[in-house]
Amino acid sequence: MTSHTLNELIAEGVRGRYILVRSDLNVPLDGSTVTDDGRIKASLPVLGKLTDAGARVLVTAHLGRPKGAPEEKYSLRPAVDRLAELAGFKVSLAGDTVGNSAKEAATSLQDGEVLVLENVRFDARETSKDDAERGAFADELVALTGSNGAYVDDAFGAVHRKHASVYDVATRLPSYLGDLVHTEVEVLRKLTADTQRPYVVVLGGSKVSDKLAVIDNLLGKADTILVGGGMLFTFLAASGHKVASSLLEEDQIPVVQDYLKRAADAGTEFVVPTDVVVAEKFAADAAHETVPADAIENSRFGAQGIGLDIGPDSAAAFADRIKGAKTVFWNGPMGVFEFEAFAAGTRAIAQSLTETGAFTVVGGGDSAAAVRTLGFADDQFGHISTGGGASLEYLEGKELPGLSVLDR
Ligand code: 3PG
Repeated sequence: MTSHTLNELIAEGVRGRYILVRSDLNVPLDGSTVTDDGRIKASLPVLGKLTDAGARVLVTAHLGRPKGAPEEKYSLRPAVDRLAELAGFKVSLAGDTVGNSAKEAATSLQDGEVLVLENVRFDARETSKDDAERGAFADELVALTGSNGAYVDDAFGAVHRKHASVYDVATRLPSYLGDLVHTEVEVLRKLTADTQRPYVVVLGGSKVSDKLAVIDNLLGKADTILVGGGMLFTFLAASGHKVASSLLEEDQIPVVQDYLKRAADAGTEFVVPTDVVVAEKFAADAAHETVPADAIENSRFGAQGIGLDIGPDSAAAFADRIKGAKTVFWNGPMGVFEFEAFAAGTRAIAQSLTETGAFTVVGGGDSAAAVRTLGFADDQFGHISTGGGASLEYLEGKELPGLSVLDR
């Protein structure tokens, strides 16, 4: 990558300059409480470096997927309050994104202070497919930086989005790669080139349709793909098993059958669970039992049964593969870890990642939230990525607009 780095920008001098920083503050909330502040903590170092050097930092960020207009529940307020608690510098939140509140607050910003603009997705132009619309919004963001501004992309989680605050601003200002994005790319590169083998990939999460492109790209690259989460039921169905009322993407069955066929030739082995935890209904206190994966309809819940976690035999088999690996990438929980009764599979995978001698990468907002919710510490893993879709798209081999625009 030939992008300019944050250190180069600091060396040029930033005191008194307005530096526009795209951060990923898209954190999970319970009401107004941040339930996983991993992305906020990951955003702090770059903001700290810039404020230490005397910059006036304007942060752009999104939260959730509002429909292009302000909505209280998508305000960045809870994320900014948490940022302010953790930061060693002054942080405030503007009342809008590029309106009067943002303009006035930017004008009175002092050296070494941070102003976060309200959710960029409160403006429909941020995500517009129309270049001119996005460009007009980018112009307004850039105008806040005055005549000597610069742009730093530190939002790895959003580099796969061709959005105004990620892409278009970078075409208008001198642009630099933030340290977080730099680190993430260095780590993910180890999963795509000269990867230490055996390379084991653990895929979970609810939908196989979200993972098709990554699976496609991993055939022949990964030695083993362990399949858990809601998507495992489409794999079971593809092998001819009945899955009762478990999550099933019927239209993906032929695609999965094709992967299963191609995998053997490509030298990649899929490992699908041999047992699953089946529940009477989707609820934290649902009655449940563990049954063989090829006999889900024989559980005492019959055709009503819903598989909500991988079973203990599968978890042990997965753990064995992980222990024998040199590189492990994990994306997506194994079950409904938010319900204690169905968290064992996800916990077992997290535990084995902490025990293996392999280089381990946890990717994806849900997996990152899962390991923290289950009580694991970040430093028990090689790397916890802040990117969900972004890390998957990187592994899919796609061009990421937020990275390519800096690489010019
Ligand atoms: C994420 O949560 O993966 C990033 O913040 C990007 O969010 P998005 O999928 O809504 O663009």
